[in-house]
Amino acid sequence: MTTTFTLNGKPMSAEVPDDTPLLWVIRETANLTGTKFGCGIGMCGACTVHIEGRATRSCITPVSLVDGAAITTIEGLSADNSHPLQKAWVACQVPQCGYCQSGQIMQAAAMLKDIPQPSDADIDGVMSGNLCRCMAYVRIRSAIKIAAVEMHGVAPEVAKHA
Ligand code: FES
Ligand code: FES
Repeated sequence: MTTTFTLNGKPMSAEVPDDTPLLWVIRETANLTGTKFGCGIGMCGACTVHIEGRATRSCITPVSLVDGAAITTIEGLSADNSHPLQKAWVACQVPQCGYCQSGQIMQAAAMLKDIPQPSDADIDGVMSGNLCRCMAYVRIRSAIKIAAVEMHGVAPEVAKHA
């Protein structure tokens, strides 16, 4: 079957079996390798992309389910790596080996749409499914907070006590 969808703003079609994981269409058909394979069972978050703006594990998403949808990968998050999260990631030197990082950023980007000023508990709760073997969790949390301020300003409760 042919599945058609939008990938990083461009029309895309894939002639693959319906149950082909979206991850492999992204990596092998579209040749976008920023999205990683970690566990293949939805447990690590390395393969996280946005489907209609929602963070989704592409390794367990059959491509047939995204027919007509808009998908964004790390390559499409910004045109020139200028998304506040990408800048904060660099400023905080978050990546160690880097393998989990595109998934971390895509998960965080989706979170900041829903929770503009996340607390530590918010971040831990949303990001806990994105595993990092290099244990970069403290830097990930710091970078998310820096990006949140750039995107949404200082939270009223923080400004009140500043
Ligand atoms: S590779 Fe998809 S969640 Fe691990
Ligand atoms: S930076 Fe190495 S697994 Fe996260």
